[in-house]
This record gives sequence, C-alpha cells and structure tokens, in this order.
Amino acid sequence: MGGGTKIDANSLIGAAHNAASKSYSPYSGYAVGAALLFDDGAVVTGTNVENASYGLSLCAETIAVSKAMADGVRGGLVAVAVTGPQDSGDGEPITPCGRCRQVLNELAQLGETDPEILCVGSDEVRRMPLSQLLPNAFGPAHLT
Ligand code: THU
Repeated sequence: MGGGTKIDANSLIGAAHNAASKSYSPYSGYAVGAALLFDDGAVVTGTNVENASYGLSLCAETIAVSKAMADGVRGGLVAVAVTGPQDSGDGEPITPCGRCRQVLNELAQLGETDPEILCVGSDEVRRMPLSQLLPNAFGPAHLT
C-alpha cells in the first residue's frame, strides 16, 4: 500500500473540500474535490472543470493526477480523498467515475502502490483500495 505512510483522513478530506470550493461546475452544479496524498507527505488537489461543450468537462481526480504528473510525480500515491456536494443525491459516499479510476491507476501502477480511496458521503467515509474499485486493471505494465 503506501509503505507505512500515515493517512490523516480528516486533513486529506479537508484538502479535498477546499479544492471543491474552486470547482468550475456551472452546468451540473456538482462540485467535486480530490486530494492525493503521497509517500513524502505531499498533497496535490484537484477540482472538476466543466465546459460549455459538456462532454469536454474534466473530473476532479483527473485534474489532480494531471497536476501531479505535470510536476514530474511518477509514483508514491498513498491515498486519495474524493468529496462531492454534501447536500445532493442520497448522501451516499461519492466514488470516482470509471475514467478517473483508470487515471488514478496509471499513477498507482507506476509507483507500485495500491492507494486507499476515501469516498466521502454526508455521514460516512467509505475507504477501499483502488484495486477493489478497479480490479484486474489495465496499466503501464501491460505495454512493456
Ligand atoms: N465528477 C468528478 O469530478 N469526479 C467523479 O469521479 C465523478 C464526476 C464531476 C464531473 C462533472 O463535472 C460533475 O462531477 C457531474 O458529473
């Protein structure tokens, strides 16, 4: 998993909430925040950025992974917190969409970690490894 890196769930979730406050989501009104924790303690955040051409919208997790990788990060992913609006839907914890699972998997497999995903709901945080959300994942190792 994360090589023993301690996960401070509350602060990681707080970072995701903070990122969600910058969401550009005028079309869905659904603000999402993501916070990635790395084995050196670094936290990289992202939020969803929508587009008038709706299908071009980018998810919070994808933005966070892109920010980290554009800064040269290639592994060490220990945990990911994902938050949605607390007052919408059925209060169930949000889970990363299928595309974001695949995007997260790229960084996870590069660093040979299985990050814990903290899915935040209105009164529950559901924690599970990425390998449970995306079993038998296709990844970089398949192409070597
Ligand atoms: N969204 C994310 O940012 N991450 C997910 O994992 C699920 C969906 C965004 C996309 C869109 O801007 C809004 O949530 C509604 O689907």
